[in-house]
Amino acid sequence: MKIGIDKMGFATSQYVLQMDDLANSRGADPEKFSKGLLLNALSIAPITDDIVTMGASAADSILTEDDKEAIDMVIVATESSVDQSKAAAIYVHSLLEIQPFARSVEMKEACYSATAALDYARLHVEKHPNSKVLVIASDIAKYGIESSGESTQGAGSIAMLISQSPRILELNDQTLAQTRDIMDFWRPNYSTTPYVNGRYSTTQYLDMLKSTWSEYQRRFDTSLADFSAFCFHLPFPKLALKGFNKIMDKSMPIDIQEKLKKNFESSILYSQQIGNIYTGSLFLGLLSLLENSQNLLAGDQIAFFSYGSGAVAEIFTGKLVEGFQNQLQPSRLGELKKRTVLSISDYEHLFFEEAQLDEEGNATFADYETGPFVLKEIREHQRIYGRKND
Ligand code: CAA
Repeated sequence: MKIGIDKMGFATSQYVLQMDDLANSRGADPEKFSKGLLLNALSIAPITDDIVTMGASAADSILTEDDKEAIDMVIVATESSVDQSKAAAIYVHSLLEIQPFARSVEMKEACYSATAALDYARLHVEKHPNSKVLVIASDIAKYGIESSGESTQGAGSIAMLISQSPRILELNDQTLAQTRDIMDFWRPNYSTTPYVNGRYSTTQYLDMLKSTWSEYQRRFDTSLADFSAFCFHLPFPKLALKGFNKIMDKSMPIDIQEKLKKNFESSILYSQQIGNIYTGSLFLGLLSLLENSQNLLAGDQIAFFSYGSGAVAEIFTGKLVEGFQNQLQPSRLGELKKRTVLSISDYEHLFFEEAQLDEEGNATFADYETGPFVLKEIREHQRIYGRKND
């Protein structure tokens, strides 16, 4: 049975911080960000837009009423959860009015867990061929004002509908994961922002890429020449470029190298404008590739490198399906230009605002711009979500 990604949706916040403005205010050379990190802008979410609202918006953009009847599992992969107990997937299930006899769970392992969610969804559909699974990767990457990671923040969600006979990408069975117990990036329960050993995290990312890819090729008797594109986890595009250069096989014919390079460039276009969206960033790379590449054909194989700090990495692959172009939007770069540009002081206020709870656990918020869903208020410690215009 062919199982894979049938539909893909995306949502980000309505506000943006330009990297040049951040550089100027922090006394950094703008080229450090534009060339050193390959980043142009970061999506910035206000307090009323979180992993639930963006995740629901991303899914809302692709689901039909028939899909909502067929979905029997909702998984939200995230490392910026809004509750230590209740799964964000339950709020999403409710906002989207998915039929009630469904399982809803949240998964976590830094930026990696959406890959595990995809595999769980694939195995579920294999057992229950008429099921559809909604996998959402949703995160807000927030490091703190003037922190070393400030330049690699971002916010956004990717929604993927997993089914049999998928219309975008058929997932292959061959996957290979690797686990290493390292402290490159972590966020203890008492902290709203992560601790990060920045340089160390980049060397671990590259080393886990190299060693997992080498073992993957050996185990499955394959090589880079079998693929038309390689998508990477994108904490910032320059690190993925380093990864791409590391795995490039210079003995391949030049036209194959060129095709891979062009497709790499297409895969980073969205994250250059959005920043890091943690669990979703690998799949944002896939969406960017599919909506911007000029040379992909049905039958082309795509490889993926997933990385979550802590750390777990995985390489998996998929094959493009006939007519995949019909399931996509044309490039979304124009849409991203419509976000409201923030001044530095507005960014500092908006991104780091905390709910001011009264003694009963109530809080209200200013009327910020969001997508179709919004966190309306906190009432007796309960987050109240709804459609923006309800
Ligand atoms: N012109 C051009 N390039 C310049 C420059 C200039 N004027 N000034 C500096 N640069 C270059 C540097 O040479 C460097 O490039 P190389 O790595 O190729 O040498 C690049 O710009 C960045 O410079 P620094 O390393 O000095 O920058 P920094 O100290 O601000 O740290 C960072 C960068 C480590 C990525 C930091 O932003 C950070 O800690 N980010 C969060 C952690 C992270 O994203 N890690 C990635 C792997 S972990 C992961 O993948 C999980 C996850 O999503 C978090």
